[in-house]
Amino acid sequence: MAAPAASAAVADPAAAPAPSTSGAGPDGGDQPVDLRSDTVTRPTAAMRRAMAEALVGDDVYGEDPTTSALEERVAALLGHEAGLFTPTGSMANVLGVRLLVEPGQELLCDSLAHVVRAEMGAHGALGGITTRTWPCVPGPGAPAGLVDAGVVEAMMTPDAGPYLVSTAAVAVENTHNFGGGTITPLPVLEDLRERTRAAGVAVHLDGARLWNAAVADGVELAAYGACADTVSVCLSKGLGAPVGSVLVGSAERIARARVLRKRFGGGMRQTGVLAAAGLHALDHHVDRLAEDHRRAADLAAACAAALPGCVDPAAVRSNIVVLDVPGAAALAAAAAERGVRTSALGPRMLRLVTHLDVDEAGARRAAEVLAEVLHGAAETGGGAASGSPGRRQP
Ligand SMILES: Cc1ncc(COP(=O)(O)O)c(C=O)c1O
Repeated sequence: MAAPAASAAVADPAAAPAPSTSGAGPDGGDQPVDLRSDTVTRPTAAMRRAMAEALVGDDVYGEDPTTSALEERVAALLGHEAGLFTPTGSMANVLGVRLLVEPGQELLCDSLAHVVRAEMGAHGALGGITTRTWPCVPGPGAPAGLVDAGVVEAMMTPDAGPYLVSTAAVAVENTHNFGGGTITPLPVLEDLRERTRAAGVAVHLDGARLWNAAVADGVELAAYGACADTVSVCLSKGLGAPVGSVLVGSAERIARARVLRKRFGGGMRQTGVLAAAGLHALDHHVDRLAEDHRRAADLAAACAAALPGCVDPAAVRSNIVVLDVPGAAALAAAAAERGVRTSALGPRMLRLVTHLDVDEAGARRAAEVLAEVLHGAAETGGGAASGSPGRRQP
């Protein structure tokens, strides 16, 4: 039996047939504008050239110079001793958490964190790790996904003896995907680092979009890196590489991660072809994230004008816009008919993500189409109820 549209979208928002070329054309022509995710980008011609020309070797033998260069560069950027290339952000998270948490211990994270909502239970299934969550809800004047160090500290039970599960680590996500691209400010992460250190609890930072946070807040990546024991960063989201993430940590931990990665079937051979895309992305695609952020803010403003209360444009600071709308799946379908693809991640949750393959004309076209569609929803009585709990259910 066919799954209902909304749940199909939840299962894999990027699974629908892809447009024949990337995003909108330079003239905002008739190619679909694909705002489902920043994972839909295709490598640029220059990136493909860098991949074709990469020096390669067998990385399981430790002989791929391009992969080693990428790992060293990302580790240095984040101020850690060593790095490990992984095929996905999910694998980088699973390895990073497993390095900090033993089977039978717990990881604390928020209720909409990628590690608990979208990694297929890997931390439990593969690592024997239990998770306990704090609610990912907006507070007074604070967007969903913002870390509250006091709340986290109150949940920690390290060395809980034979009565309770011992807390070994906390995972934080910056920027926060399902929270709407929320950026947790550096001082909050520093405060959390102090509190966890005092309790002997480790920190894993899911930094799939840490580049976006760094560009938006003007923070050095190493400053974020200093707030965590292990950090994962993705090259295949805002940075536009086709594949790849890097996990960083101490040399000892990354040596263990290399063994675990092989155990998971993730020991890969001539990965320099992929690592070259990552190095190219670091050279050319980081500073431009500011453009994606501006386009996301413009989209949020257009949506809020069409359907007041569906999003707070002032809260949109990176490349993700989460709308609180009634009938998200129907609105996504209506926008798709007009050439704008979005992700319905819940009954009231519509996500728009800007990226390398959405240019100025495409973003303008998307804003027009979404304004029309949302205006239609407003006229048929579907006004948004900002703060409705429905929005937080992907
Ligand atoms: C915050 C966050 N962490 C991790 C991941 C996992 O990345 P991948 O799809 O490469 O496994 C994602 C993917 O969207 C994400 O949004």
